[in-house]
Amino acid sequence: MTCRQSRILCLGGLHWDTILRCQDKLVSGESNPVCTTGIPGGVAFNVATALSRLGSDVGLTSRVGRDKNGKSLYDHLESNDIQPVALEFDSEAPTGSYTAVLDLNGELVIGLADMAIYDRLSAEYWQKYEAQLQSWDAWCVDSNLSGPALESLAMLLDSSRLYAVATSPAKSHRLGGVLTRLNTLFLNTCEAAVLSGRESGGLRHALQQAQCLRDRGLKQVVITAGAQGVAWADCGGCGSLTAPIAETGNLSGAGDALAAATIAALEQDHSLRTAARWGLSAGIIAAQPGPSRTALSWHALEQTAKLIDD
Ligand SMILES: Nc1ncnc2c1ncn2[C@@H]1O[C@H](COP(=O)(O)OP(=O)(O)OP(=O)(O)O)[C@@H](O)[C@H]1O
Ligand SMILES: [Mg+2]
Repeated sequence: MTCRQSRILCLGGLHWDTILRCQDKLVSGESNPVCTTGIPGGVAFNVATALSRLGSDVGLTSRVGRDKNGKSLYDHLESNDIQPVALEFDSEAPTGSYTAVLDLNGELVIGLADMAIYDRLSAEYWQKYEAQLQSWDAWCVDSNLSGPALESLAMLLDSSRLYAVATSPAKSHRLGGVLTRLNTLFLNTCEAAVLSGRESGGLRHALQQAQCLRDRGLKQVVITAGAQGVAWADCGGCGSLTAPIAETGNLSGAGDALAAATIAALEQDHSLRTAARWGLSAGIIAAQPGPSRTALSWHALEQTAKLIDD
């Protein structure tokens, strides 16, 4: 696939992920030996990283603390070709953090999000930086932003190029006020249950949720169902794509890679159905085990798409 450059600004989470993996069977209420790793994270950051790897010109708007983590996140953006845009260092709030405790098998035991700093991204903040935000072609917001912040942004930006990604079931209700102003919304089936009131589950449930949200005025929607694949709906119809069975590693961020590749394909004027196929390919690559994971590129997506049944 030829890659037309698209200038996309991501707005939302940029924080530090700390992963604590238990070295033995977890005993709750006691001290457990763990192995600790730290990596940059946040949905907006993950989407920006994947878009950058696919050749888009990418910016990131967020807020970090005036602390060590904030400085290293900022440096990380520069070395990954992501332009910091309206990104302030906060002297009063610490950089956001997400701490995940994984059991011996790598399954999430508990995730802890300290992200109060994003509540300081407000309507006034957008007004202050309006000219910089408007200078991009398309925008991708995540639900780390508060409901009022999402609503004021949606009034400011061209809704025909406004994409949104849900970050967790706890925060997806924040997107309720902007549904009709989005080009496309990306979410997993648990997040879709909050917004649609429809039961979560496998691909069949995801398809029903997608139709329900489309019928409520959302132009385009993509709902992931983990290992099963992805469902989509737009004004022309709806459908689903089944993921091939594959060995997987750390699944965190697979949904964000899927959203990024779908957005990149939509920006190249592909239909939602075709774009969702590129997206699923990116999700499959992101879910591969770390040591054998293919680097994200259009060529790799093309190869992976061959494994997906029509
Ligand atoms: N167990 C799995 N096997 C194969 N592919 C998977 C698996 N889990 C996820 N994927 C891939 O990742 C995509 C998104 O997965 P999922 O529904 O878990 O998103 P998510 O919960 O939003 O993830 P995250 O928020 O951590 O990025 C799927 O559509 C699929 O392509
Ligand atoms: Mg997700």
